[in-house]
Amino acid sequence: MFIFLRERDESMNQTRNGCERLRAKQMDADAAAALIAPGSTVGLSGFTGSGYPKAVPLALARRIEQETTAGNPFRVRVWTGASTGPELDGALAKANGIEFRLPYNSDPIARERINRGEMEYFDMHLSQVAPMAWQGFLGPLDTAVVEVSAILPDGSLVPSSSVGNNKTWLDRARQVIIEVNRWQSESLAGMHDIYYGTALPPNRVPIPLVRPEDRIGEPYFRCDPSKVVAVVETEAPDRNLPFAAPDAVAAAIAGHLLEFLRHEVKRGRLPESLLPLQSGVGNVANAVLSGLLDGPFHDLAAYTEVIQDGMLDLLAAGRLRVASATAFSLSPDAAARLNADMARYRDKLILRPQEISNHPELIRRLGCIAMNGLIEADIYGNVNSTHVMGSRIQNGIGGSGDFARNAYVSIFMTPSTAKGGAISAIVPQASHVDHITQDVQVIVTEQGLADLRGLSPKQRARVIIDNCAHPDYRPALDDYFRRAREHSYGQQSPSLPGEALSWHQRFMDTGSMRG
Ligand code: COA
Repeated sequence: MFIFLRERDESMNQTRNGCERLRAKQMDADAAAALIAPGSTVGLSGFTGSGYPKAVPLALARRIEQETTAGNPFRVRVWTGASTGPELDGALAKANGIEFRLPYNSDPIARERINRGEMEYFDMHLSQVAPMAWQGFLGPLDTAVVEVSAILPDGSLVPSSSVGNNKTWLDRARQVIIEVNRWQSESLAGMHDIYYGTALPPNRVPIPLVRPEDRIGEPYFRCDPSKVVAVVETEAPDRNLPFAAPDAVAAAIAGHLLEFLRHEVKRGRLPESLLPLQSGVGNVANAVLSGLLDGPFHDLAAYTEVIQDGMLDLLAAGRLRVASATAFSLSPDAAARLNADMARYRDKLILRPQEISNHPELIRRLGCIAMNGLIEADIYGNVNSTHVMGSRIQNGIGGSGDFARNAYVSIFMTPSTAKGGAISAIVPQASHVDHITQDVQVIVTEQGLADLRGLSPKQRARVIIDNCAHPDYRPALDDYFRRAREHSYGQQSPSLPGEALSWHQRFMDTGSMRG
């Protein structure tokens, strides 16, 4: 396939649209955006800043701005895989063009609109988007706008740097707009595994994946050419953010976590090659992956959502045998490294639809070690991943719920304080709960690690305060816990609800929980 694409590139003046029938649909982004009806629902590709369409959403945003100036504002409903880039969420939110969005957003302009109440946001588990789209209650999908890296002669599509929900959007949409991005490496062809065996009950069957390296599907998306109304050629990079070296806090968190894993191996509760790793993105996650480079673990595997810098390093060092995910999330340096040396990595990387990368059945079967970030955890181990002060959305639950509930070990990692130390990440009662205490088995901060498995709520509180809270906040948490044990209505999970909420109010009033 790689050879075919190169040949077509040379003979066809760089076009990667190898389908004669679809070459007739080629047009510019403005003409394609004009085919999207006001008020309609658009399913777009994109996951963690990779593989999102870069031209048509920008053109749609321009059109919305022009129509708004002319007194005819309109908006659309936006479905994606997860977060995209400034050319999609940023541009459409800036134009006030998004009426409703699902499932995960990290764009700052869209975040602001959501928190001002100007945009509806349905934050859902990433594994559930495709099945719920098929169930039908989300409504019809009018247009799919999907970035690919090439179109084959039979009209099938070579996916680009993320798979996300693209299979479902292409199948469900009434009409399809394709962006063919020449910036994406040709050698992505063959890396993807698109499984077409999902169905709704009562016709569901077991998913035949028993190891992270199993390939159970096809390398390309099927696409009915008669639904394709536009093909737009682009040459534009993914959002790829630069990677900051782990700071001392991230390194300390990683150190505690790696010590825990070593201990679990020594006690015979984990094999020496561990179990498939799932890791959220960000500096703490990358610090953990960097730590694995020097640790004693070999023959590792990742069954996760995104492939990030640290995983490439582990692959290059021969520590990781395979990484299965739904998207890349690489720094520009790492993306360049991957593109330059794709042959070395290609067979060890698999990108799947997010309903498979995040499937509860598979996460439970494989026994993933889940490692995710949090905003705050309470002393009983309830975790808030999404809402600052209980009401302001930061990003969304993403895949953390898919993994945390079904993992072999569910680990949450965070610095013990936020906002320069003015706020404690460990609180008496979480102001919003995404992960209930039963789904949270280990909490790690730079202060230490709380292994909560098998502990009752009061036992968990003791370990979390002693091991994870910042020393500046321990006395206040101790005081709260002592009084809750004296005055609480019940003694299973002692709490003083009014006071727990005023803990957050104190921050709102004074800017610090210490005061
Ligand atoms: N109170 C108030 N604000 C807080 C806070 C708290 N307890 N904890 C974090 N924040 C703020 C930070 O100050 C920062 O704000 P800023 O951007 O204005 O500076 C913001 O939240 C992000 O925090 P940061 O320290 O940069 O953390 P992060 O990049 O590690 O992200 C989450 C942490 C929880 C936001 C992130 O992990 C997330 O979105 N998780 C949910 C999705 C998920 O887990 N996906 C994983 C599957 S891939």
